[in-house]
Amino acid sequence: MWPRKATPLADLNIGIVGLGRIGALHAEHLAGAVRGARLVAAAVDPEHRARLDADGSAPCPLVVDAAALLAVPGLDAVVVASSSNAHAEHLALAAAAGVPTFCEKPLADSVTRARDAAAAIERAGLPFQIGFQRRFDPGYARARELVASGAIGTPEMFRGLTCDTIPPVAYLRTSGGLFWDLGIHDFDAARFLMDDEIVAVQASGAILVEPELAGFDDIDHGVVALRFAGGGLGVVQNAWRAPYGYDIRAEVHGSLGKIVTEVDEEVPARLYTSQGAVVDRHHLFVERFREAYRRELQAFVDALRGGIAPSPGVRDAIQGILVADAATRSRRSKGWVDVGG
Ligand SMILES: NC(=O)c1ccc[n+]([C@@H]2O[C@H](COP(=O)([O-])OP(=O)(O)OC[C@H]3O[C@@H](n4cnc5c(N)ncnc54)[C@H](O)[C@@H]3O)[C@@H](O)[C@H]2O)c1
Repeated sequence: MWPRKATPLADLNIGIVGLGRIGALHAEHLAGAVRGARLVAAAVDPEHRARLDADGSAPCPLVVDAAALLAVPGLDAVVVASSSNAHAEHLALAAAAGVPTFCEKPLADSVTRARDAAAAIERAGLPFQIGFQRRFDPGYARARELVASGAIGTPEMFRGLTCDTIPPVAYLRTSGGLFWDLGIHDFDAARFLMDDEIVAVQASGAILVEPELAGFDDIDHGVVALRFAGGGLGVVQNAWRAPYGYDIRAEVHGSLGKIVTEVDEEVPARLYTSQGAVVDRHHLFVERFREAYRRELQAFVDALRGGIAPSPGVRDAIQGILVADAATRSRRSKGWVDVGG
């Protein structure tokens, strides 16, 4: 059971569940870029394991499944980067094994499963961090500092936008839906930057890209109006379409000014010609947020080694789920929906 080591500053043995788009990057970071951590083993689904075995590209030894990973002797923590509909099961296994977790968003794919996972983690008294990496992005972190310093007075309005290339339908089926997969980052950024809770939402959605989404009542474009506890307002725009590159923006508007964080250029050089100006843009989230993904894992490892609670934690994970759920229900009911507590 945690903590396993007599010497808290020893390197942590970390396992990972899932080596897909994000798990592979987390594994790469744990294998070298995160101080105080050692990647010891990974579990993936059987089909992915067969592919990794065939091409020999696994970054560490593979075990048969998440249960086997959690039984690896001396395991200090696990990163859960499996499909969203598998998180609850993997978190429950980790809680039962007494292993601290870093879990990718969303915490789970239903409110009930998220609450059960959160309760199991809290009952076991285990450290936990949710993968809201934007909090570790230099732009978002600076915006938060500026809000806290009073530079824009009282925050009154939030605007967040996430547009990305649509992933395969097989991924979307297990994602929980647009607001659970994309919107949840903007909802967390809204709470983080406004330093306030979202208490009600009104959402609208459309299918403009992938007709198959209708088969499981999902959307690929969505807009969510937000009401904050302190009286502020906000709006979040999400789209599974961004032909010009990965597009992430946030703005906090206050009584004395506003803060905008957005990155248009992958390389800080613009080509100007008679045709206009051209910039190289990020096309993948693993490029745009590469450093934030490294920093969030470094923060998790530092917290564990330092004996302090990692952040953002269970409460932030649950609040994100509750807003995503309320937005999904509002989109269906076409009215304002209160965010449950
Ligand atoms: N924070 C972010 O910006 C961010 C970005 C992308 C994905 N994510 C989240 O990360 C998670 C994974 O997303 P992805 O894009 O890497 O998905 P992916 O489909 O590319 O990879 C999923 C991985 O999970 C493994 N897996 C699935 N079910 C499993 C099971 N039962 N046991 C063991 N392994 C299992 C698969 O083998 C694969 O390695 C999702 O929850 C997603 O929401 C977060």
